[in-house]
Amino acid sequence: MSGSGCLDGRRLLVVGASSGVGRAIGLTAAAEGAMVVFSARRVELLESAVQMAGAHTRAVVCDVTDESSVAEAVQETVSALGGLDTVVYATGVDPLIRIENVDGVAWSKLFATNVTGASLIIRAALPHLSAARGRAVFISATSVGRPLPGMGAYATSKAALEELARAWRSEHAEVSFSTVAIGMTLGTEVTADWDTDLLGDLGSIWGSRGYLFDNGPGYMNCEQVAETVVSVLAAPTSIPYVSVLADPVHTDPET
Ligand SMILES: NC(=O)c1ccc[n+]([C@@H]2O[C@H](COP(=O)([O-])OP(=O)(O)OC[C@H]3O[C@@H](n4cnc5c(N)ncnc54)[C@H](OP(=O)(O)O)[C@@H]3O)[C@@H](O)[C@H]2O)c1
Repeated sequence: MSGSGCLDGRRLLVVGASSGVGRAIGLTAAAEGAMVVFSARRVELLESAVQMAGAHTRAVVCDVTDESSVAEAVQETVSALGGLDTVVYATGVDPLIRIENVDGVAWSKLFATNVTGASLIIRAALPHLSAARGRAVFISATSVGRPLPGMGAYATSKAALEELARAWRSEHAEVSFSTVAIGMTLGTEVTADWDTDLLGDLGSIWGSRGYLFDNGPGYMNCEQVAETVVSVLAAPTSIPYVSVLADPVHTDPET
């Protein structure tokens, strides 16, 4: 697929594109001919992605927990790209915390970023997605349905995100909504704030009870996930849900 131009002419907004999976999706999509807006809060990282992606790409700052920021970002995207037909919501936070320690503030922050923000982005983009009969992809996690201890609140938010995709699809069949649930992926910042002592305690449980195997068996890198997401965007069919894991044969745990 690499460089085949399978997204030629597409106008794509990637939210959560300053690092990790979202950044790789933006870069891969640009290499496949899409015009891409990279969006998130950290402008320097967005600018460096745009520099790497080349022509027809733009950085647009957005905090998805702020509704006016979302509206402005979508408007800026439409102006920059001359329209909008495709959205990828890769934004996510994943606090490592035992479920009994998640207070109201933490639940609110988690849902504002992982769930509500996705709906606000689609709501703001809807006139353009509907007119274009476009596509939207939400990035979820393969741990939904079997939450890892210490990641139960996160898995709960991702379960809600998956239901959100179904809810949007039920009311807007003119737009193709896809959930891409991914397994363990290296090269991202999602674990940056994790407490290493708690990780030590939980990590052994994850290994002994098979959670790591279920979400692997090895690790993917961001480019592998990005290629898969671009395939979903370029498919001649609508793909409501796909689960993506490391290939047990071709996995290099060092990448
Ligand atoms: N890595 C894995 O193993 C794994 C497994 C399953 C699912 N996932 C999912 O994959 C997606 C990408 O995560 P990642 O692993 O690539 O982690 P990451 O590197 O931390 O990326 C998260 C992105 O979300 C953005 N973000 C966070 N809060 C935001 C806000 N309020 N407004 C706008 N953007 C915000 C961050 O940008 P700023 O901080 O610049 O705003 C960043 O670009 C997430 O949905 C995650 O849950 C990851």
